[in-house]
Amino acid sequence: MSEELRNQLGVKEDQPNDWFETLYSHTSESGEGVPWANMAPHPIFKKWLDGQASVEEGKKALVIGCGLGDDAIELEAKGYKVTAFDVSDSAIELCKKRFPNTQVTFVQADLIAGIEKWYKQYDLVLEIFTIQALPPKYEKALIKNVADLVADNGTLVMITEVQYQQRTFENGPPWLLNKNYVESFEQVGLKKVFNSNDQEPEMGDEIHLTIFQR
Ligand SMILES: C[S@@+](CC[C@H](N)C(=O)[O-])C[C@H]1O[C@@H](n2cnc3c(N)ncnc32)[C@H](O)[C@@H]1O
Repeated sequence: MSEELRNQLGVKEDQPNDWFETLYSHTSESGEGVPWANMAPHPIFKKWLDGQASVEEGKKALVIGCGLGDDAIELEAKGYKVTAFDVSDSAIELCKKRFPNTQVTFVQADLIAGIEKWYKQYDLVLEIFTIQALPPKYEKALIKNVADLVADNGTLVMITEVQYQQRTFENGPPWLLNKNYVESFEQVGLKKVFNSNDQEPEMGDEIHLTIFQR
């Protein structure tokens, strides 16, 4: 991405969260102007979830960087007790407006800072395109902070695009991950149990569905 476009969006390496609030505060429940807003669950995630056995009562799921909330609603329909967070207050307000009757807890929180009270609290953690929405210098902290949310015997479901070239601030956003993200998760206590990259990527060289377990 050119420096001009980054400046237009207000993307700053040292204040990487701010432009999301700007973007969401200028949209409505339609999601117009939010480039990633499908207004539907991610199709790769939905296909995976539909293929899973029914969920035992009381199982807890957490959606990271939930955007406009559709993936969280899908997990609720499957039977999870769901919390979903995003760094943008406006995104969270839009989720509450879009889904007034849901039991999902939509809440503002910052993945870069990490969320200590949720340490190992979730049976299923869902991460779609959030790490790649933040500059490479935060990668190590983000991967640790995502892994820390997964309960003992819990599962991390991740959908991410992968690029073959090295990640640099100048190339993004998005800052698509390199393939070594799998080892990085394994270094912080998770184990890869499944990986597929058979779908057409939108932006990068590959798109992965990867499942990790603790
Ligand atoms: C590329 S969007 C993906 C949204 C959603 N997961 C989807 O697939 O449609 C990245 C999301 O992460 C959120 N986000 C960015 N930085 C964050 C942070 N530090 N903590 C939590 N969420 C963040 C953004 O506001 C945005 O909703």
